[in-house]
Amino acid sequence: MANVQVHDKSFEIYLSEQTIQERIAALAAQINQDYAGKRPFFVTILNGSFMFAADLFKHLTIDAEICFIKLASYKGTKSTGNVITTIGLEDDLFGKDVVIVEDIVDTGKTLHNFLPKLEHQQPRSLKIATLLHKPEATQFPLTLDYIGFSIPNKFVVGYGLDYDGLGRNLKEIYQVIG
Ligand code: XMP
Ligand code: MG
Repeated sequence: MANVQVHDKSFEIYLSEQTIQERIAALAAQINQDYAGKRPFFVTILNGSFMFAADLFKHLTIDAEICFIKLASYKGTKSTGNVITTIGLEDDLFGKDVVIVEDIVDTGKTLHNFLPKLEHQQPRSLKIATLLHKPEATQFPLTLDYIGFSIPNKFVVGYGLDYDGLGRNLKEIYQVIG
């Protein structure tokens, strides 16, 4: 599959299924090593991260827990607006080794706004795992502990990421043409 059409835009293949899966296996191996003897608690940010979280979690060989929350901060192809929690965080993170699982860090605003809420619960440690990072777009300082791929500042879809609701089912990641 070379090009795909999602709504009114054409996208070209950027990361193949194999490339994505191999990188996730490597990230998981690193996490298995870093959290050996611990029990990390993964906080997955829906919707875009659902595939990444599932594939990453399957590769873990250590004890680990996972939960899913939803924040809304994005419309169309530009990062906009304030972060709104729509599915709340009910678990108590006090004393836990928390790993946030994100699909993509673009401006960094979403995580920048969300981190204080998590820190308020006093986890023992707090790290971020993101499948994709757009370094050229990032405006809010963040320490990203696990990065799948650093990518150019172009809109991407597939593997959980959408363009106005569509494209999440693609096994590969595609970059907008033009
Ligand atoms: P910020 O700017 O807060 O953005 O770091 C994070 C959220 O914006 C969405 N986002 C994208 N979604 N293709 C997408 O499908 C993209 O290229 C893209 N860039 C940002 C995404 O929901 C992410 O969590
Ligand atoms: Mg997201």
